[in-house]
Amino acid sequence: MSDKRRKQYESMRGHYQQAGERAGFTLSPAQLAAVERLSRLAGELAVAHGPFRHRPPRGLYVWGPVGRGKSWLVDTFMEGLAEPRSRRLHFHDFFRRLHEGVSHTQVTPPASGATSAVRHSAVDRAVDELVGDCRVLLFDEFHAHDAGDAMLVARLLRTLLDRRVTLVTTSNYPPAGLMPDPLHHHLFEPTIELIQQRMDVLDVAGPTDFRRQPRQDPTGRRFARGAVLERPQAPLLAAHGLRAPRPDEAVQVAAHLRELPARAVRGDLVWLDFAELCEGITAVPDYLALADRFDTLVLDGVPPLASCTPDGRQRFANLVDVCCDRDVRLFLLGSDPLAGLPADSRLMRDLDRTASRLAMLRGGRAVSPR
Ligand SMILES: Nc1ncnc2c1ncn2[C@@H]1O[C@H](COP(=O)(O)OP(=O)(O)OP(=O)(O)O)[C@@H](O)[C@H]1O
Ligand SMILES: [Mg+2]
Repeated sequence: MSDKRRKQYESMRGHYQQAGERAGFTLSPAQLAAVERLSRLAGELAVAHGPFRHRPPRGLYVWGPVGRGKSWLVDTFMEGLAEPRSRRLHFHDFFRRLHEGVSHTQVTPPASGATSAVRHSAVDRAVDELVGDCRVLLFDEFHAHDAGDAMLVARLLRTLLDRRVTLVTTSNYPPAGLMPDPLHHHLFEPTIELIQQRMDVLDVAGPTDFRRQPRQDPTGRRFARGAVLERPQAPLLAAHGLRAPRPDEAVQVAAHLRELPARAVRGDLVWLDFAELCEGITAVPDYLALADRFDTLVLDGVPPLASCTPDGRQRFANLVDVCCDRDVRLFLLGSDPLAGLPADSRLMRDLDRTASRLAMLRGGRAVSPR
């Protein structure tokens, strides 16, 4: 191993050790194995792009059940990497940026008959722009559920491989299990093959969903960012630094290309009704816009998800994903969302992801009033 490579390998291992100690974590055996592999990758990257080397290191596909610390592993990797040309993308971000890019390049209406070709090249351009001069791209929560996702994800992957970008992804699905819908799975098979040929697959399993672990850290460093409050009376709200909105606080709040009625906006806090946000016609870009602006989101009037529309349930799951990824404090006021929804329920896709994140919110203790 060259000096440069060894130095970066050791520096990354040291970085993980410090990050783990700072957070008060004991890494699982699967995480320790991943730290070793990711540190090796850091070493490989340090020597991959010199004047006489054109072979990018193999990417890593990190997968496993929910809450095993995959995102923590790859985020810590990106923090410790001495590579300015790196980028982190979350699944929802990827689609937002891509759709924005596509609509910008489609200002001029295409001539008749050329629609699909124009759209195709608009997607190509948007992906190219997104990747830019990146050397390392982290894609958190890699998955595909419908034919549209599959096309865009496949396009991104081809661009990354063509451009010799090293891809690091996390997923709850092993490559062969991507696009689980049997009607569409075959559309994704070439992409799965590409992943298997060009990336190393790392299984981060283990018995513990860390989000469900009781909080042991007396300093509160693993404090849940938010809470589920089933009987949100004034004293309980106050214990979490919250106060119910007065009617005259109702206001319209800007989301993505639309305004939503909020019960209150106070500084970086927004207070919204479930009926407006999850049962209204909203979508992930709206949640991303809210997450860009607000640090705390209170969702009032949360019903048991079993009683919602399928779209309402999916919107709620996406909102929880976005808030957790963006570190937005999320307070859910009303019923237990999962009441009456068995763990193996087919009423919700990826229910285990939402359940794990809600378990973390449930572990949340009172915060000092803001
Ligand atoms: N070894 C550990 N001990 C305790 N907590 C940990 C450990 N590793 C990670 N965590 C914490 O556990 C929580 C879940 O970790 P993370 O989000 O990385 O899981 P994940 O595998 O990406 O889950 P998902 O598949 O649901 O996205 C986070 O709050 C993270 O900081
Ligand atoms: Mg994750």
